[in-house]
Amino acid sequence: MCEHEAPQGGRRRLILSNPIGRIGTDIPDREAELFAQLGPDTVFMMGDNPALPPMPAKPKLLDFFRLRFGAISFGHMLASAKRALDEGQDEKIVVACLLHDISNGCFIRADHGYWGAQMVRPYVDEEIAWAIEKHQALRYFADDSVGYVYPENYRRFFGPDYEPPAYIRQEYEGARAHPWYMSSRLVTLYDIYFFEQSNPVDPEIFTDILGRHFRQPEEGLGFDGSPTAHMWRTMIWPTNFL
Ligand SMILES: [Fe+2]
Ligand SMILES: [Fe+2]
Repeated sequence: MCEHEAPQGGRRRLILSNPIGRIGTDIPDREAELFAQLGPDTVFMMGDNPALPPMPAKPKLLDFFRLRFGAISFGHMLASAKRALDEGQDEKIVVACLLHDISNGCFIRADHGYWGAQMVRPYVDEEIAWAIEKHQALRYFADDSVGYVYPENYRRFFGPDYEPPAYIRQEYEGARAHPWYMSSRLVTLYDIYFFEQSNPVDPEIFTDILGRHFRQPEEGLGFDGSPTAHMWRTMIWPTNFL
């Protein structure tokens, strides 16, 4: 009954930020300081964090959108998928657009295409996962055949003289020669920023399409024993100490 109100016996619960989001930044490393605070009434947080909305016991994909993802990622992925839908694209492309930046929502930004593809791979057609993975590299390279140009935003984000690293160029060249190239290219074509859109999109409009293209596990994402269940659990409890 009181699980959400008083987890860990009502003790004070300390949160140590994840090193991957802290190292090299001005966020202080508080590990030693927090260890020193431990005592009978003070522990490291494990389980539900009252600062976050509680997740259902058997979470579905859209629960993560609504209850965990930041506003920009939420709006951005929905707007991208809506645009693909409005332009009559295949449902697989719509789903790839809907999921393409899922790693940015509540997980890891660096190499987000690869993390996101890995996260959803057990639940979608491999072409969808492939398109998500490769969009990361394709974003940096224009394709006149579909009217895709280098993003103006990237000039602002990274500076006008930014050059992608060699591994990204290699990934692009490999993807360019792959039979599924256009699936990933379409993800980049509809990859637009929420602040370029005015109308909010209701995630429920994708429920039927997801029913056909996302194998929602009965036990809930995070609890189905899939090779990526731990990634979903990490988004449910992102402030677990271990
Ligand atoms: Fe992306
Ligand atoms: Fe995107």
